[in-house]
Amino acid sequence: MTSNKTVLISGGAGYIGSHTAVELINANYDVIIIDNLSNSELSAIDGIKKITGRQDLTFIQVDTCDYEALKKVFDNYQFDSVIHFAAFKAVGESVDEPLKYYMNNLMSFMNIIDLMKKYERPNVLFSSSATVYGESDDLPVTEESPRMPATSPYGNTKQMAEDILRDCANAYKGLHGIALRYFNPIGAHPSALIGELPRGVPNNLVPYITQTAAGIRECLNVFGGDYPTPDGSCLRDFIDIVDLARAHVATIDRMTQGKMEAPYEIFNIGTGRPVSVLELITTFEHVNNLNLPYRITDRRQGDIAALWADVTRANEVLGWKASRSLDQTLSAAWAWQKHLAQI
Ligand code: UFG
Repeated sequence: MTSNKTVLISGGAGYIGSHTAVELINANYDVIIIDNLSNSELSAIDGIKKITGRQDLTFIQVDTCDYEALKKVFDNYQFDSVIHFAAFKAVGESVDEPLKYYMNNLMSFMNIIDLMKKYERPNVLFSSSATVYGESDDLPVTEESPRMPATSPYGNTKQMAEDILRDCANAYKGLHGIALRYFNPIGAHPSALIGELPRGVPNNLVPYITQTAAGIRECLNVFGGDYPTPDGSCLRDFIDIVDLARAHVATIDRMTQGKMEAPYEIFNIGTGRPVSVLELITTFEHVNNLNLPYRITDRRQGDIAALWADVTRANEVLGWKASRSLDQTLSAAWAWQKHLAQI
């Protein structure tokens, strides 16, 4: 096992982390998963093992904010790359508890970078978000589009972490950073063995849809029908979770193969195609052959009308492109919800 083919995944039991672990293993990488399980379950680790057949998968329960505990992982394992997912991600909660977000999301990332530097491990992939663009005037947004002032502490932690990575990669020779700006990740693994596990009432659209279809929620509220969009509902760039996970493989390939053109790079990860909330609902109903109770209500505070990606750079430079159809994605999302009902 060469360290060049080993990737440390922080937050690897989470939604994006677990799917990324599967795709890295499929691409012949070894992974070491660390997670404090604050917003994830051990069942995700079992799911990764079942999908990949890797019963010997290394999982360590550790909090990335705990510097000494994290240091032990660096002492005990060889790896050249880290993918840092571990973070809190609820926009509304971050407004109510900003310090919780700043401390957790930034401390954990600075610990990771500090140890990568000290142990001379070169590659840091940071899990960023399209939220850094805010309400953009030039759609679709490219990586050069200006970042707008963050509208929540959560969004601010993404912007600040990007800046920390940029500055460190520029300053410390041998350290390389790539930030992937995800648009709206949705769906689940086609095996229905891993997927999103929202705690409590979901904030995000697709988990709310699947829980409504399952009868857990009475009715989906579509937040706003009077936006300046073709059907009045918001437009988003919904990216399939497996496609998104594969973007990480392409990124790690780029880093480990020494192909980066600068110490710090940024890529938008989306489909490049805007889909409205109402179109998503209609597609979900159609592919899964069911009727979804929904009503159009007031706008949700803080939502922007439309945001989608220009993915030219990821397509051309990473050689990655989203390939799963919205039908496949929404069918997988529903299969996952049905799987959850059985366990
Ligand atoms: N929506 C509803 N009803 C719901 C939930 C959502 O109509 O019950 C609508 C929202 O108003 C929005 C769209 O569905 O128009 C998507 O909402 P999500 O909450 O699923 O996603 P957001 O676009 O608000 O935010 C997501 C992530 C953030 C990330 C952001 C980047 O949740 O973490 O994308 O743009 F920062």
